[in-house]
Amino acid sequence: MLKVQEADRLLKLPIYVFAQLDKVKADMAAKGMDLIDLGMGNPDIPPPPEIIDSLVESLKNPENHRYPSFEGAPEFKAAVASWCKRQYGISVDPEHEVVTLIGSKEGVVHFAFAYINPGDITLVPMPAYPAHFRGTILAGGEPHILPTTEHKGYIPDLKIIDPAIADKAKMMIISYPSNPTGAVATREFYAECVAFCKKHNIILVHDFAYAEIYFEGQKPISMLSIPGAKDVCIEFHTTSKTFGMPGWRCGFAVGNRQLIESLRKIKTNLDYGLFTAVQKAAIAAMTLDESAYIAKVRATYQSRRDLFVDGLNSLGWKVSKPKGSMYVWFPVPQGYDSTEFCMKIIEKTGVVFAPGVAFGELGEGYLRAALIGSEPRLAEALERIKKAGFRYA
Ligand SMILES: Cc1ncc(COP(=O)(O)O)c(C=O)c1O
Repeated sequence: MLKVQEADRLLKLPIYVFAQLDKVKADMAAKGMDLIDLGMGNPDIPPPPEIIDSLVESLKNPENHRYPSFEGAPEFKAAVASWCKRQYGISVDPEHEVVTLIGSKEGVVHFAFAYINPGDITLVPMPAYPAHFRGTILAGGEPHILPTTEHKGYIPDLKIIDPAIADKAKMMIISYPSNPTGAVATREFYAECVAFCKKHNIILVHDFAYAEIYFEGQKPISMLSIPGAKDVCIEFHTTSKTFGMPGWRCGFAVGNRQLIESLRKIKTNLDYGLFTAVQKAAIAAMTLDESAYIAKVRATYQSRRDLFVDGLNSLGWKVSKPKGSMYVWFPVPQGYDSTEFCMKIIEKTGVVFAPGVAFGELGEGYLRAALIGSEPRLAEALERIKKAGFRYA
């Protein structure tokens, strides 16, 4: 047995609740339980044929199997710039203000390494997508939590941040539509974020992973659409959720030239960029007729959301319908913590949710359901929960 300790950066990470969950899932599956796994936000709606055909075609060209360029092919970056203009009304210079990523998680975490020194502070609203605080911890920094609550729509109050912390903070990470809460933010809040970051000389990171997953026609806005945002902001995008390509590992960042340059610099020392065939397929994705695919994806998540929330409410919950993302965030009944309740539901029903504590300590008391099953599967999950006697009381 090696007597070598892991680096402090690993020891400082909070426990990874999903590992515990995986063990229980494996045990239940071994016992023959038919699991309905709504635990991970792993999209199940496949990409359309145009994207797959493009990948297959690209695979036949030997040139595409070589190392790609670090920062992305010029045609990929041009497609990103056109997509950003068309979808969000923002202008980015493809040469200096775009970088490809091996998925946006990779980008968000490595961006922390580009700016965070040991002891530096990142402001992170919580509950949060774990990479938003874990990236800073891995880089040796300290996440400073901005509490958010259901009552205030899961939007942090920037006015109550201690001015000494605000002055010391180096970065703030905002992300709407939100994973895990499904909350969306207003233009006024974004304008407040930009003004706050300018005032305190803070880098503003906007993780826009769920840019296209929204409901009732209320399209989320890009942080970069706020006048002056580009002075302080970098925004992360992904094809994972929009085009059902999570396994392809394709994303991009756009925004402030200096911030993009720093991210490129760190990435040139870590990876070799994004597989050219995937870049070509992503170009096909970004030039699809929107009504043909993305609108259907949205409609699918919306009717799953309605079915699931209505089902929970018929079991005593009082959950309102999230306005975006692909999650339903709902409270744990009295007497349990989120991990306990999650494990109990798995054992009794085979339905897997994510315990809220996985999204930081302020996620305790909640569960997250990812809407990644067909409607009949979601209905079955609810039926099993009902039969097992779980209710919200
Ligand atoms: C808020 C948020 N950002 C980023 C990601 C990662 O996406 P990608 O597949 O692009 O790495 C996720 C995935 O669940 C997410 O929820």
